[in-house]
Formats: sequence, C-alpha cells, structure tokens
Amino acid sequence: MKLNIAVLPGDGIGPEVTAQAVKVLKAIAMEFNHVFTFNYALVGASAIDKHGTALPQETIDICTKADAVLFGAIGKTAFDLDPDAKIRPEQGLLGIRKALGLHTNIRPIIAYDDLLSKSSLKVRQIKDTNILIYRELTGGIYFGDRSLSEDGNTASDVCTYHRFEIERIAHQAFKAAQSRKRKLALVDKANVLESSRLWRRVVLEIAPQYPDVKVNYLYIDNAAMELIIRPRQFDVILTENMFGDILSEEASVIVGSIGLLASASLGDEHAMFEPIHGAYTKAANKGIANPIASILSAAMLLDHFGLDEEAALVREGVDKSLKLHITTPDLNNKYDNISTTKVGDFIEDFINNPDETNLN
Ligand code: IPM
Repeated sequence: MKLNIAVLPGDGIGPEVTAQAVKVLKAIAMEFNHVFTFNYALVGASAIDKHGTALPQETIDICTKADAVLFGAIGKTAFDLDPDAKIRPEQGLLGIRKALGLHTNIRPIIAYDDLLSKSSLKVRQIKDTNILIYRELTGGIYFGDRSLSEDGNTASDVCTYHRFEIERIAHQAFKAAQSRKRKLALVDKANVLESSRLWRRVVLEIAPQYPDVKVNYLYIDNAAMELIIRPRQFDVILTENMFGDILSEEASVIVGSIGLLASASLGDEHAMFEPIHGAYTKAANKGIANPIASILSAAMLLDHFGLDEEAALVREGVDKSLKLHITTPDLNNKYDNISTTKVGDFIEDFINNPDETNLN
C-alpha cells in the first residue's frame, strides 16, 4: 500500500516521540512492502517562531493532500503564562482539527497487566479496564464565539451543538459498542446545560436503532468519580469536546502514564493520529519522553487503512517493551536509563525480527 503521511511533530517532546513513531512506521513499510512517504510541516509554537502563525497555510495544504496526518504535540510555557497572547500554539491543533473536519476523536484506555502496579489506584480496581472514549472534536465550547469586554472584566465562551454533530459521532460510538461489550455511556451535564440536553435527546432518539446496546446516562461530575472508582463498568464513553478532554486525561491515571494514551481523530475525508499528551516542554530534549502514545497512534493509523497484521505487530512490540521494562522513567524505576530513542529502537528491532528481540 502507498501512503502519503503528513508529519507534524510540533513542540516540546513532540519531535522526539514522533520520530519514534515514524521509525516504527518505516520498519513496518520495509517488513510488509508498503511505500510510506513522510512530509513534514510546522505547527504550534515552532510555526509561530518561523511564520508568526500557529498553523501556516502550507501546513494545511500538506495535510489536506496527505492520506493521514501524524501529529506530535503543541505548547510552550511562555504562552501558558500570558493570557493576553493573541497568537497561541493551541490554535495550530484546533485549527488543523477544524480545517480537516476531524469531528470524531477516539481514545482507547487500556490497563496493561504488566503496568497495573504503576497506577496510583488499586490493582483490583483497574485490572481489565478497556474503554473507548468517543470525544466530539470540532464543536462545543472549544469552537463557540468568545468575547472579552473592553474593560477586560467580563469574558464569555459559547457552547453550541447542532443535532447533526451529535448524530454523526453517536452513530460511530454505538457501532463501536456493538463490536465490543455492547455498552455505551453518554456523559453530559443535562441537569444544567441546554447543549447537554440536546445530546441526551438525540442519543435517546438514536438508541432504539441499536437495541443490543445498553445505554447509561451519566452527568460529568458523577462520571469523573465513577471512572476512577469503577472503571471496568465502562465500555464506550460518548461525550462532547471539553468533557472528553478532561475525562481522557483523568483516565491516564488508570493506565499508569499519560505517555501511553494514543488517539485517532477522524473526519469524513481526513484522519489524524495523535498522542493525547501535550508538549511537556520541561522534558524536551532530555530523552525521557515516553514514545509509546505516539507509536500506538501510528498503530491506529495502520488500523485505519485496514493494515491489521501490521498494527498488531506494532502492538506486540509495545507489549513486549512493557513486559521487559524497556520503558522511559515515567513507568520505570528498574532501568531508569531507558531513553525515548531506545524504546523506539526496541520496537523497531522487534518488527524487523519478532522472534529474536530481547533486552540487550
Ligand atoms: C488534547 C489537548 C488539546 C485539547 C489542547 C492542547 C488544545 O488537551 O488533545 O486533549 O484540549 O483538545
């Protein structure tokens, strides 16, 4: 298969982790006789430094022409401390999601047996957790009108949802539930927000089309607690943009490190694959960033093109690296000198030679 992949490494640890995912994809291409080409483009703070904008037109063009986008991370501490900055790295990520119409963000939350003790939660609480979060990605408060009064004392962000935006992701989430444990939890704040009541109305209407799926309705505050206390009760979680952002980051506590969480962002015409973690600027260029989230995002890219055997091999390599403690310091106190690159090298070697790769 020929794939033209746009690579947007971004800022902070983004370039380091993305380099490992590209390395893994190149190994897969070699092993399975695919032709993957990689076209790099700037986004976030690195694009602001060079072009004065977080999302240059050239980046949009490269992504639009690509079969898929591999995204790293964006962000820079200087912007976090400057609420008045008009140009911000996050505009690069939000802008590319919007430009490519990536409305459905899928975030798997899987507790690995080999890492159960890394979570600050109890092993018996988290064992066998396997959740798919469906986060709506191009609507809600993230993309509503914003305003700041002239005197700077009043601000507002509007949360708007249209029925079609809810329907398209809800159908995807129901279908995913049908292929899993047939449970779907809608997370909203329908006791307070009108937009949440629309989500609930639409999902209540759609549910009879999927009679084999058991639907549960939770308010976000309650869901935040249940996710930690009884994560195994969840199969597919469906939610709007901001609640999905918060819940998925919370869920990283279950798996032991946010450096493990991958995601796929899908639209009608385009697809992007990105770790859910941010730029983690203070870890940049130290070789300590965990590349697994980026590598598993690459596996989701392979899934997207039906390259099941290839994706399975990447995941086997990841599993083996975790089993052998070939992991970065966020997960490792045994061999805490394992670098970002070494983790990538191990998984690359595994793909080249699945039967022989061991710790050496
Ligand atoms: C994520 C991130 C982004 C978001 C930020 C960086 C804009 O937190 O992908 O989860 O809030 O969507």
